[in-house]
Amino acid sequence: MSSTRPFAHPDAQSPLACDGVSLDTLAKKYGTPLYVYSAEQILERLRLFTAAFESIPHLVCYSVKANSALAILKLLDRNGSGFDIVSGGELERILRVNKAAAQRVVFSGVGKTAAEIDLALRSGILIFNVESAGELDLLAERASRLRKRARIALRVNPDVFAETHPYISTGLREHKFGIDIRQARSVYKAAAKQKFLEPCGVSVHIGSQIRSADPFGAAAERIAQLVGDLRADGLPINSVDVGGGLGIEYHADHSFRPEEKIRQYASALLKALRPLGNLQLLLEPGRFIVAQAGALVTRVLYVKKNGEKTFVVTDAAMNDLIRPALYQAHHDIVPVVRRKGARKKTVDVVGPVCESGDFFARDRELPELKPGDLAAILDAGAYGLSLSSNYNSRPRPAEVLVEGKRARLIRRRETMDDLLAMEQM
Ligand code: LLP
Repeated sequence: MSSTRPFAHPDAQSPLACDGVSLDTLAKKYGTPLYVYSAEQILERLRLFTAAFESIPHLVCYSVKANSALAILKLLDRNGSGFDIVSGGELERILRVNKAAAQRVVFSGVGKTAAEIDLALRSGILIFNVESAGELDLLAERASRLRKRARIALRVNPDVFAETHPYISTGLREHKFGIDIRQARSVYKAAAKQKFLEPCGVSVHIGSQIRSADPFGAAAERIAQLVGDLRADGLPINSVDVGGGLGIEYHADHSFRPEEKIRQYASALLKALRPLGNLQLLLEPGRFIVAQAGALVTRVLYVKKNGEKTFVVTDAAMNDLIRPALYQAHHDIVPVVRRKGARKKTVDVVGPVCESGDFFARDRELPELKPGDLAAILDAGAYGLSLSSNYNSRPRPAEVLVEGKRARLIRRRETMDDLLAMEQM
């Protein structure tokens, strides 16, 4: 297995495989479009995190939004991972997997409702990342009503610029996230007066798909400064949550060494945070853990020409994987079966949805694909199915998890009955 992607051709004749399990076989058995994930790759990424931070007490809280499949959550739970959640629904998923895992849950999000807060208080989560003064008031009220103490961190907005797509950058003052770091001290003082609140942490998250370690280091320095100030104010701050956001490389032709990336990330963070001494570090990686463990396998329906352009129409669409449409994101696409002497052609790979934004690749040079061929859209393990929809009344794909040499269905394909179950005429 490659250390970057578990998807490879075992040899020149064999179809593309996930940890040696043929995607052709899986597509025949489970149909397409089909998400396929490697358990081994997910665990390897978790281990990389743990290894990079072993010199400091820490907990990796996998960001559930990246991929919330129960089987993946269970795999991570069994291997000691905590979880970053942003809704009551995500908490329900964790509780279904293992009630005791609530102790390893951090709850972020700008719009927590009273019902969600109550569920989290009753479940005994590790810590709330509070994103506004209003939320702090509501949490204080709910905690005292339920007579449950809540450990809290304020999620501060450090006003740090992170080079990424504007939709997934979160650490600037103009963004809706967190509390302005300049106001944090006074909000902490208000929190400390509340009997059922225990302000013990600081949290931050500056964005997603950030490929340089520098902005993480800059944010950590600001956090370290704040922790010093808060401790001087008499608050026993012993937890720093640095959020998620570490990026991957979506282009195979760029060299990407995950071990190296994570080492740089860890060293930027620890340089700023280690001087604080007594501290538990919380990490919220999502994409880095699951993105490269997954592929979306799709079958070519048609190949058509319009003017100068050639369109490869697949049975997967933007409702199954919206990243290219939403962020102009690049995903490598690989034919599952390599045809001897196949010529390369410049094509658009598109889905059947009625939007011109429904594309997976534009003007991409790919080995020729013909109707009936299978192709794998790589690095689709994060924000793939979790961001999917039923647009155009399209049932969602099935999901398969490869564990060792075995593959099993972890979510069956949706049916029209599933889609219509909530409706009345
Ligand atoms: N923690 C918080 C508070 C977050 O908001 C996020 C992601 C994470 C952790 C995990 O970030 P990661 O390690 O996965 O970068 N749909 C977009 C990404 C949205 C990220 C939202 N927040 C995409 O497909 O690129």
